[in-house]
Amino acid sequence: MNKNRNCNYKLLDCGEFEKLEQIDDVIIRRSAPQAIWERKLNKETWDQYQAKYDLQKHAWELKQGIELPNLKCNNLTFELRFSGNGQIGIFPEQEPNWRWLQDVISKADRPLNILNGFAYTGASTLFASSAEKNTNSINVTHVDAAAGSVKWARENCRLSNLENNNIRWIVDDIIKFLTREFKRGNKYDGIILDPPAFGRGKKSATWKLDRDLPKLMQLVDQVLSSTPEFIILSCHDKAFGNNELQDNLSKIKKFNNGKIETVDLTIKSLDGNDLPSGSCARWRK
Ligand SMILES: C[S@@+](CC[C@H](N)C(=O)[O-])C[C@H]1O[C@@H](n2cnc3c(N)ncnc32)[C@H](O)[C@@H]1O
Repeated sequence: MNKNRNCNYKLLDCGEFEKLEQIDDVIIRRSAPQAIWERKLNKETWDQYQAKYDLQKHAWELKQGIELPNLKCNNLTFELRFSGNGQIGIFPEQEPNWRWLQDVISKADRPLNILNGFAYTGASTLFASSAEKNTNSINVTHVDAAAGSVKWARENCRLSNLENNNIRWIVDDIIKFLTREFKRGNKYDGIILDPPAFGRGKKSATWKLDRDLPKLMQLVDQVLSSTPEFIILSCHDKAFGNNELQDNLSKIKKFNNGKIETVDLTIKSLDGNDLPSGSCARWRK
């Protein structure tokens, strides 16, 4: 994360398929399959962890009494948890997009209707909703297929004191939701999408990035307002690099001006190795 941003998260190092991170004074060690290089920091530093995720056992090894602190960034607070899949409830590589979102939203001189699909624990929802602007003029629709993630996002909203902001919380499969929004005639001025490679929708529906991205882009084009402000499309699947994401965004017909740019979602480390953590293409008016 950007050091100037008053965030209590640091990437200490990565290498040999793992990453070493610090939140306040708690050091955690977990898998990072993309870190195929040697570590920069020494073994003693790597062994100073208080929590380690064991990929083979799919379980956390915790030093006695260790709890994860809340992640604090830019006046927002996110509860972190030792999740069963090795996640902790935040994707710090999205930090450049959080800053970009707040910049685009605060500069728009009109009310905005924003959609965050695949919204997980709500980081982008809360950054968008708290952009410096009259908050009554920012409406965010937060959509995720997992009820537990939406509940967690609402808790993060409460911890961040944003309960009175205009946020609609929706548990639904994104394709089904957008299909209905199109039929209802609801439109969005800004859209944030960070789809996983695979996912489970509500009930039995599943999400597959390579199969479903074209349909998603078609629906996005249908629900975009006639004067869109921005779109962010990011992912963590090696098969979809910046160029593939850019190609997908360029199919959207409503962009009659503006520019699509690509961003490497790389987490910077002060003394260790940086960690490339995803691809991104984004468009602004
Ligand atoms: C990579 S995480 C998104 C991370 C989030 N953008 C962030 O930065 O915090 C993927 C999310 O997509 C959700 N998901 C998976 N399949 C879905 C579907 N078909 N419709 C809606 N959400 C889905 C998962 O529940 C999960 O919360």
